[in-house]
Amino acid sequence: MLATSDAFVFFGATGDLAHKKIFPTLQSMVKHGTLNVPVIGVAKSGWTLDQLKDRAKDSVTQYGGGVDPDAFPKLLEELSYIDGDYSDDKTYAALRARLGEAKSPTHYLAIPPSMFPVVVKGLESSGCSKNARVILEKPFGRDLLSARKLNETLHLAFPEENIYRIDHYLGKEAVENLLIFRFANSFLEPIWNRNYVHSVQITMAENFGVAGRGKFYEEAGAIRDVVQNHLLQVISFLAMEPPTTMYVDSLRDEQVKVFRTIPPLSPANIVRGQFEGYRNEPGVAPRSDVETFAAVRLEVDSWRWAGVPFLIRAGKCMPITVTEVFVKLRKPPLARAGVDTRNYFRFRLGPDIELSIGGRVKRPGPLMLPMPVELSAVKYTSSDEMDAYERLLTDAMKGDQLLFVRQDAVEAAWAIVDPILGDCCPTETYKPGTWGPSDSRELAADIGGWHDPQ
Ligand code: BG6
Repeated sequence: MLATSDAFVFFGATGDLAHKKIFPTLQSMVKHGTLNVPVIGVAKSGWTLDQLKDRAKDSVTQYGGGVDPDAFPKLLEELSYIDGDYSDDKTYAALRARLGEAKSPTHYLAIPPSMFPVVVKGLESSGCSKNARVILEKPFGRDLLSARKLNETLHLAFPEENIYRIDHYLGKEAVENLLIFRFANSFLEPIWNRNYVHSVQITMAENFGVAGRGKFYEEAGAIRDVVQNHLLQVISFLAMEPPTTMYVDSLRDEQVKVFRTIPPLSPANIVRGQFEGYRNEPGVAPRSDVETFAAVRLEVDSWRWAGVPFLIRAGKCMPITVTEVFVKLRKPPLARAGVDTRNYFRFRLGPDIELSIGGRVKRPGPLMLPMPVELSAVKYTSSDEMDAYERLLTDAMKGDQLLFVRQDAVEAAWAIVDPILGDCCPTETYKPGTWGPSDSRELAADIGGWHDPQ
């Protein structure tokens, strides 16, 4: 682990990610005492520092719960700006000079992936990458081949232990709770396997469309946007073997082992959908075939999980916004035909956080009949949780890689979805406000259908 970083540099300072996420996170870090180092924004916009400060104010007002009277002025004192072209050596010379005495800066690449090679090269040749760490956001490439190339590029200037790949799902309280719930309890382990678990489903539903990001979405689609990363990460937490301790690589070793036991998917394992009206969104091609919905059925071919279906469903314009994991157990013996008496675990990962266990008790009255109940173990709102970005940026500044994605995990996850990227099979249109194409029901028919979160 490196020493705590002593400067925070962010490329793309005038862009969308900085506006929506980075400034609010920085203000919050200053407030919590986890950021008190120079903050240097870099971009090519012809802006002055005052313009960037105005932008920061607008950002925390819109997305950061307002201007904090103590933290915001402190953030502005630390903030400086370099306006320069990413392909111009002078930009990096200016950055090197601005870094002054800083010995282990952090460079956040909040820029389009196509710019990564040029910025990494500039950082390397100017000496700005020396002893430094780099943060970047998913998507890490757009398939296995480009992910490998990206890793080669990054490794030209940064060794793996200085690379922090953000998948913000790993910074979510409810996702981390999957590990604690699994490994800090003794009652779960005896049943958390193919002998007791019947099937596992994850639904990530959003009741909005592409929200002005049509251009980005055209390049991505649901599989690249959320399945290859967020949802496979959730599967790895559900399916992994216990990490021996929580040292960085024990968790990440177990994660990658899960990915490597999932056979690559084929078109028979997927249903792709597109909501009606997507093609009219700005930035979207009139005959676009990009999927805004994907339902995928996979296997985790390990001693613990062989034969247990794992299903993922992710879509835009669904009836509600919710991400939920549903782990169904096998039927108890003597269950009456036609009555679904299965127990289940229901983990709601967002927007609110819930952990409930489904069971049966006696229905009050003269007859010996069961009725369903849910035992609720956890229930709170997302406002109680620390923002995922703040957790991750704080960890990166401290030099803690536990919740960042390692190169081999990125590549192993791409290897799973590579055969189903692009137009591997036709997309079926679905009406906004529904649970997606009717064909997706087939995929779950033999496990009792999809569980639609309420
Ligand atoms: C992002 C995707 O990574 O995650 C978006 O690009 C998606 O399309 C978002 O809406 C969902 O994140 P969260 O934290 O709201 O579940």
